[in-house]
Amino acid sequence: MLPRPLFGYIAGASERNASLAGNEAAFARHAFRPRVLTDVSGRRQETRLMEQDHAAPFGIAPMGISALMAYRGDLVLARSAEAAGIPMIMSGSSLIRLEEVAEAAPTAWFQAYLPGEPDRIDALVDRVKAAGFGTLVLTVDTATLANRENNVRAGFSTPLRPSLSLAWQGVSHPRWTVGTFLRTLKEHGVPHFENSYATRGAPIVARSVERDFGKRDHLNWTHLDQIRRRWPGKLVVKGVIRSEDAATAAERGVDGIIVSNHGGRQLDGTMAPLDALPSVVEAVRGRAAVMLDGGVRRGTDVLKALALGAEFVFVGRPMLYAAAAFGAAGVDRAIAILKEEIHRDMALLGIERLGDMTSDFLAPNR
Ligand code: FNR
Ligand code: LAC
Repeated sequence: MLPRPLFGYIAGASERNASLAGNEAAFARHAFRPRVLTDVSGRRQETRLMEQDHAAPFGIAPMGISALMAYRGDLVLARSAEAAGIPMIMSGSSLIRLEEVAEAAPTAWFQAYLPGEPDRIDALVDRVKAAGFGTLVLTVDTATLANRENNVRAGFSTPLRPSLSLAWQGVSHPRWTVGTFLRTLKEHGVPHFENSYATRGAPIVARSVERDFGKRDHLNWTHLDQIRRRWPGKLVVKGVIRSEDAATAAERGVDGIIVSNHGGRQLDGTMAPLDALPSVVEAVRGRAAVMLDGGVRRGTDVLKALALGAEFVFVGRPMLYAAAAFGAAGVDRAIAILKEEIHRDMALLGIERLGDMTSDFLAPNR
């Protein structure tokens, strides 16, 4: 369905894909101890997070270049999430202007990649504010580009480099070529990175243009303070594993923390977010909302994360596959399936409220 380089970009992670596998394996190490005979007929999964009500305890994680995977992908994901009453985080590494997404889906969050350059930080924060976003997510696990050897093997790069094999991928995947790529070119022109900074970035296909990643490796806590001073909305840091860092972020006034290893796509061998979660919850002690992503595939995964102290989770790859395969109908269905699973699992676990999902519902799976 998707050309090989694009599928490889979504599915893959870094180096040995050890963290990618580890993220899912961590869920399998916990088993449930369900409760019986409690009358679960009034069960509900609505969740309040950072003073906002959501229809379910999950949202859609930020994913770059979604508009290359599905026609107007960021808008598809944002609109489906909005209609379902859950948050969608728009990636800063995206090909549609953030203003368009904010207008189409006012509850969407925006995720920024920021360099350690104060002027560029202020300019992007001001732009996100002017667009009307209420929640800003700063991804902090990307001090440099990861070693995505599998992307090289699959022929993926940003920008994509024109070649015979890329042309062949287009010819042999006509549904994507016509329905997503050519349709985008015709309706919107060559996609560019629109939201890395306050100004337009590189095109998605180019022979020799290099992307500007700025001084990402300069980013430090003083920049977070700068953002906190300038950003009036909810501020979330994404990509925290160490409880010490979570405590520091909470002290510096963030509203939320997403425990994440970027879906295993950054430092390979990073521990699974689910394993890091309890110590983060303990360190933050209610000062900030603790969320998690990585390897969440089923309602049972969502409930295990909540049992270990997460208030909310985000789902990445499955939502982008749904958008790539069936557009809005696919994303609507993926969200509905996960909601149904949570509803069913709550009954089978013997709980009516997600707040009842405590660690005594879990046992080590040996
Ligand atoms: C990502 N992720 C990501 N994270 C982020 O903060 N900004 C981004 O632009 C992207 N881009 C991106 C693209 C693609 C194709 C994927 C699969 C992932 C990471 C993402 O937000 C999330 O942390 C993981 O995907 C969660 O893991 P699962 O659910 O995919 O296992
Ligand atoms: C990725 C970048 C966009 O994970 O964060 O591919």
